[in-house]
Amino acid sequence: RKLTIIGMPMDLGQMRRGVDMGPSAIRYAGIFERLSKLFSSIEDWGDISVGRPETIIDVQSNLRNLHLIAEKNQMLAEMVDKIIQSKSFPLVLGGDHSIAIGTLAGVSKHYTNLGVIWYDAHGDLNTAETSPSGNIHGMPLAVSLGYGHELLTNILGTSPKIKPEHVVIIGARSLDEGERRLIKELGIKVFTMHEIDRLGMTKVMESTIDYLKEKTDGVHLSLDLDGLDPNDAPGVGTPVPGGISYRESHLAMEMLAESGLITSAEFVEVNPILDERNKTASLAVALMGSLFGEKLL
Ligand code: ARG
Ligand code: MN
Ligand code: MN
Ligand code: MN
Repeated sequence: RKLTIIGMPMDLGQMRRGVDMGPSAIRYAGIFERLSKLFSSIEDWGDISVGRPETIIDVQSNLRNLHLIAEKNQMLAEMVDKIIQSKSFPLVLGGDHSIAIGTLAGVSKHYTNLGVIWYDAHGDLNTAETSPSGNIHGMPLAVSLGYGHELLTNILGTSPKIKPEHVVIIGARSLDEGERRLIKELGIKVFTMHEIDRLGMTKVMESTIDYLKEKTDGVHLSLDLDGLDPNDAPGVGTPVPGGISYRESHLAMEMLAESGLITSAEFVEVNPILDERNKTASLAVALMGSLFGEKLL
């Protein structure tokens, strides 16, 4: 089993600087040491060059930095595509969540029924019309489902990249009005914090795995660190109290490892400027350990 890491130091999808340092922070937290026993080989393709313009150039139609985000995600999509062609598991380090647009464009080329687990406090299901912020990191799931500006939805050609019945959102506790509407309209499966509290993470993951297992030929994990509780993951730009715990998250990753379902992953929204001594990046690395099958005994 081979793993290929690619960093996407993107911060243009939201307004807080520092999330572009996420890939460095995650590498510094010891990703190689942690994962080296779990793979026969690990390659690091380095970071895609995003650049960091200080002025926001294309505020238009409520899509901040649209053109640059589209261009950079195109590059990411091509890299991810190459990684899968090389028969390796793609692990993308963010960067804000707008990078999921590129990751999913690259991954979805290789599957007819790609499943997606969206581990997040947010739905990221906004469009220019519904977004309260104009921040594209609040839109990548909508874009991948085919809703949004065509510069974003059409990366690597066809749209949509994924089907609503192949998506499971876990950890939601902050949804905008338009996102709620889209969830209902499309019938997307969501385990909010309410269900996690009520059923427990074991049941939530069992149903997630059952739900996706039969109908998908690959499953992408898009893990936004703000899905976790801000006490465990303080280094994120849009923290929401009352999140998934450290232990529930390890359990979730371990159950995914056992299922053998996950075929690609990304860890996003780590912002070391807002963090406490690299706690959030370290948590990301620890969760990767569990996701890739680390065991105590
Ligand atoms: N729903 C809010 C918005 O659209 C917040 C999105 C936060 N997304 C994230 N990936 N952290 O602006
Ligand atoms: Mn989020
Ligand atoms: Mn997100
Ligand atoms: Mn953010």
